[in-house]
Amino acid sequence: KIIILDFGSQYTQLIARRIRELNVFCEIYPFHHLPTISPEIKGVILSGSPCSVRDNNAPDIDLQAIRKKVPVLGICYGAQLLAQKFGGNVEPSATREYGRANLTEFEADNPLFHHISPHSQVWMSHGDTITQIPSDFVTIARTESIPVAAFQVQNEATFGLQFHPEVTHSLEGKQILQNFVLEICGCQPTWTATSFIQSSVEALKKELGNDKVVLGLSGGVDSSVAALLLHKAIGKNLYCVFVDNGLLRKNEFESVLHSYQDLGLNVKGVDAKVEFYQALAGLTDPEAKRKAIGKIFIDVFEREAGQIKDVKWLAQGTIYPDVIESVSVSGPSVTIKSHHNVGGLPEKMNLKVVEPLKMLFKDEVRNIGKELGLPINILHRHPFPGPGLAIRILGEITAEKVKLLQEVDAIFIEGLKKAELYDQVWQAGAILLPVQSVGVMGDERTYERVVALRAVTSTDGMTADWARLPYEFLAQISNQIINQVKGVNRVVLDISSKPPATIEWE
Ligand code: XMP
Repeated sequence: KIIILDFGSQYTQLIARRIRELNVFCEIYPFHHLPTISPEIKGVILSGSPCSVRDNNAPDIDLQAIRKKVPVLGICYGAQLLAQKFGGNVEPSATREYGRANLTEFEADNPLFHHISPHSQVWMSHGDTITQIPSDFVTIARTESIPVAAFQVQNEATFGLQFHPEVTHSLEGKQILQNFVLEICGCQPTWTATSFIQSSVEALKKELGNDKVVLGLSGGVDSSVAALLLHKAIGKNLYCVFVDNGLLRKNEFESVLHSYQDLGLNVKGVDAKVEFYQALAGLTDPEAKRKAIGKIFIDVFEREAGQIKDVKWLAQGTIYPDVIESVSVSGPSVTIKSHHNVGGLPEKMNLKVVEPLKMLFKDEVRNIGKELGLPINILHRHPFPGPGLAIRILGEITAEKVKLLQEVDAIFIEGLKKAELYDQVWQAGAILLPVQSVGVMGDERTYERVVALRAVTSTDGMTADWARLPYEFLAQISNQIINQVKGVNRVVLDISSKPPATIEWE
């Protein structure tokens, strides 16, 4: 495997995803947790950083612990760190170099640049420049504006790149990473969905033996894939619980439950609608609604898990981005995010936790789901918040409002699918506003509800832009909603990006 040492760059996860796309396994470590170089580690990549190597407390590592032991590739900050620590010079660039550049000159026979075209476009993003390299380093690439775009240490598989091969604007960046990982480090491209399934099923069999495992299904990709993987490993010893909180999309509970049953999963559907509605009665504050929903979910789940005799494990669909220790460079503190969507349940019920997807990125989870036969309706489902429609009904939740919003949402989502727009947006839904407006239908004046449509494009939900849906499509959906959903006489479109807005309204 390849180790990526994270110095806090926004691109670190992208490096990891590119390497995984080459079917090579890699792991991200914070720079101050450099693992000991064991035979299974075939190479180390040093990431970029928002810091400057000239800062007094710039993130630093013991490079001697890795140099000459395995091939090393420094990217941006990583390259500057290599150059500076071995006697070179790094200075602030006269102008901040950001954006496209071309490799005007490079050593085409250097293994790092095999199959790279002349003038290859690369992506720069740095405030410092390497002005002088140490005497035993050689420059292997230049651009119009910088003399050292890449270097290699003489007679050593240690390289530095001033540009970012991991971003797609570096048009042949993936080839450069492939050259490093496959040719220079000698990794085999064996990390595939099939091999992951095989090895993790074996590992799960060993770890879980004859124990019983409980898992909460949500209808989303992660919990579904976790369930299929565990099912393949331990069969009927996996007990799945799928709770209907009354806040799902129209017919979603039934249809997803059937899909799960068709897949052979041992799944119990629990209708807890009334409990959720009771807990939500009278609540208008978004956080209070979230808390109430979380609490009832735990109550229901605990009750169901308690009925499984001798259950020993709780399985969760946690994925890699949730567990990567993030490096904070404004004071090198480390925070570990963790999904605890069932609260303190493991401690309370004395359950051990198993997280079969915790080394996978979302796209890898999808590939594995596909390989395991997860139907498209689950595989390509948009993200949907845990509190469901409760945070899309502004103000108090009632069963009637849920019903109304479900109808509106269904028209919108079905419409997106029919128009083949569904897969082009990251997430979409409708919001029921707490206002009424005047309208006219036939000869009658109406005073009815307003719904907002929200559709966004995004890659990770952290930032988002409103999707530019065709006017014709919007016109048709708006008509359909007003004509078919009693109680709605006005449809508006949310055209805010995140930030400063958020994807959800509450
Ligand atoms: P925001 O509204 O913060 O949403 O831009 C970002 C993503 O997170 C989802 N979301 C939630 N998911 N529980 C969840 O499980 C929540 O309370 C919650 N709030 C927002 C949202 O749907 C979007 O995908």
